[in-house]
Amino acid sequence: MQPEVLLMDEPLSALDALTRGNVATEIEAIWAADKRTVVLITNDVDEALVLADRILCLNPDGTLGAAFPVNLPRPRDRNAMNESNDFKALRADVTAYLMDVGIKSKLPETRLLPALTPRHALPSAYAKAANSAMDARYLRYSQLHKVYATPKGPLTVVEDFNLVLKKAEFVSLIGHSGCGKSTVLTMTAGLNAISKGAITLDGTHVEGTDPERAVVFQSPNLFPWLTAKENVAIGVDKVYPKSTQVERQEVVEYYLERVGLADSMNRQATDMSNGMRQRVGIARAFALSPKLLLLDEPFGMLDSLTRWELQEVLMEVWSRTKVTAVCVTHDVDEAIMLADRVVMMTNGPNATIGKITEVKLPRPRSRRSLLEHPDYYHYRSEVLSFLEEYEHGHKKKDVA
Ligand SMILES: Nc1ncnc2c1ncn2[C@@H]1O[C@H](COP(=O)(O)OP(=O)(O)O)[C@@H](O)[C@H]1O
Ligand SMILES: [Mg+2]
Repeated sequence: MQPEVLLMDEPLSALDALTRGNVATEIEAIWAADKRTVVLITNDVDEALVLADRILCLNPDGTLGAAFPVNLPRPRDRNAMNESNDFKALRADVTAYLMDVGIKSKLPETRLLPALTPRHALPSAYAKAANSAMDARYLRYSQLHKVYATPKGPLTVVEDFNLVLKKAEFVSLIGHSGCGKSTVLTMTAGLNAISKGAITLDGTHVEGTDPERAVVFQSPNLFPWLTAKENVAIGVDKVYPKSTQVERQEVVEYYLERVGLADSMNRQATDMSNGMRQRVGIARAFALSPKLLLLDEPFGMLDSLTRWELQEVLMEVWSRTKVTAVCVTHDVDEAIMLADRVVMMTNGPNATIGKITEVKLPRPRSRRSLLEHPDYYHYRSEVLSFLEEYEHGHKKKDVA
């Protein structure tokens, strides 16, 4: 339309993180050729850094906040920028500013988790005896395969997936869209049949669903007519059969407080924002006191500020419970921030583990401290370059 001014309102927010990065790069190229005046609204700091000459922050109350000139050379290559100190400093500054104005910690520090015994807790003598063996190989994927029946015949989506998790370990599973991440996760949850190989948790083969394996999906399946409290309470009765109603209620309230919903426990799910619903989903998963927590792009549909906030909520609750966890994501920062190890999957079909990076960043972690940590961008470029290799469907040919 050859406009004088181009206005864009979160044009990429519905895309996954990797696609978003690619389209942003393309927009930059088109803009560079045309040189229109552009106002772009975004909640993604990286998108702003790739595209803008100037970033203006809006405060939550609608007033105009800080302005950051972006003097990074163009064209702005995502991987090259990852090595640039100017980029890192600006990224940290903008992020810190937005967190300061937008994120207030709502977590009360009062209540303690009541000491209940979940149904599947081991008697202490047995637990002691079993501890040494099971802690090191708590969750185990052995030659896991998934073959889907398709009109064109059987399709091996996941092939020979082998991974061992220690108890209390947090693993991020990252890979391009469609590679088979959700397939691995739903097999672990017992929602999807295992074609070949095995998954064992705490010495027992995974078969069917069980509250000992709690799942958080992208959109939490809450009962819309029930309150936050009632939604979290579902299933809790079964998990703590020996406890009183009052004690179980305490567990429910404890986790709702931890995820920042102390004031909204009696609100109906229909009256909640997506971010609040996802908080309820996280509280529900933890309230089941699971042996294993499975998350499938849990914050994928939230804007980045809400996502940051919930990542920190998740870290906070996880650090108290130290539940063994597998989190599927395609957000590189999220993968690194949450995990002890980032497991990278190759592209499907026949997808498998391509690379594993151990993240030795100190805990407790916050986004702010990570962005300022000297090793952070080293991890980031390791994961980014792996994903880049598989960008266009196939691994780039190895150069001899
Ligand atoms: N029930 C199914 N039948 C046939 N193919 C499927 C089925 N579910 C998923 N797939 C295919 O398996 C591949 C991996 O899917 P998925 O695990 O959802 O990927 P990801 O979560 O990494 O995006 C995709 O190519 C998808 O089309
Ligand atoms: Mg998926």
